[in-house]
Amino acid sequence: MNKREVVQAILGSRIHHAPTIETTVFAPTNIALCKYWGKRDQELNLPVTSSLSISLDDKGAYTTFSVIEKEEDEIILNDAPVLLSSSFAKRLINFLNLFRNKERFKIILKSTIPIAAGLASSAAGFASIVKGLDALYDWKLSLTELSLLARLGSGSACRSLWSGFVLWNKGEREDGMDSYAELFHPHWEKLRVKILMVSESEKSLSSREAMQRTIETSKLYSKWPNKVQDDLEKIKHAILTNDFKLLGETAESNALFMHETMKNAHPPIEYSSEKTYALMQRVWDLRNQGVSIYFTQDAGPNLKLLYLDN
Ligand code: DP6
Repeated sequence: MNKREVVQAILGSRIHHAPTIETTVFAPTNIALCKYWGKRDQELNLPVTSSLSISLDDKGAYTTFSVIEKEEDEIILNDAPVLLSSSFAKRLINFLNLFRNKERFKIILKSTIPIAAGLASSAAGFASIVKGLDALYDWKLSLTELSLLARLGSGSACRSLWSGFVLWNKGEREDGMDSYAELFHPHWEKLRVKILMVSESEKSLSSREAMQRTIETSKLYSKWPNKVQDDLEKIKHAILTNDFKLLGETAESNALFMHETMKNAHPPIEYSSEKTYALMQRVWDLRNQGVSIYFTQDAGPNLKLLYLDN
């Protein structure tokens, strides 16, 4: 099955609804505590394993859609026009083409997180795009359907439709219709996630390319599915029992293992800089001093600190 067939299966006759109003929507970014790393289907972004994230309610993407009487789309990102020939615009336009007839859009995207610096901006971006389309065409899709559609844009985007702890079940089906996210548990009031910026610059290798190289060349990757299975059970248990230590330890270990699988790829993939390692050391030193603080890291040099507000 290809993306267009999935969209057709979900939208059915609704795909022909006429767009009406201008609409603005928001989707939060999400930080995986147990990561999605590796696809069993590259076209549909179907993952090898399930994953679990936490949404950052105050960080994400605001998207304003309107229909314009022009030949081409108009895309504005953080107040600057985006060249339609850029890879960013192409990816977005290809995604929009799955849903529309001949309409052209003006899309104003405001991201409160740096784009492509390993801060899951594409997750919030694609989630807000599907929410925006749903509102513009008045499809009235369920969150499950929106999650299925957001996944086609970027895997992790399927988790960016809820606040709180979100679980993406990997699913078994070839068409991916059982591979979507759901709310696992509401936010812990006291849990804090703080982004430690090491670099805001765009990453040299996209997570998409990195995970593919890892799956194809890393000898360590065969251990990843079991690692995730164990970690998921621990993290779910930690969330349900309010066990911050178990949550932090498991999330940190999961991120470190993911980066190990990449370092074992050929050629090796290294997202951490010296500064990243120095910050990790600082976290471990603090823990030795009795401070309950952990980190996680995605496909970039930045760390996300996990701690309780006390
Ligand atoms: C390290 O969702 O960006 O952040 O599906 O190819 O768009 P594509 O990949 P993407 O990968 C996210 C990888 C990660 C881990 C995670 O968020 O689970």
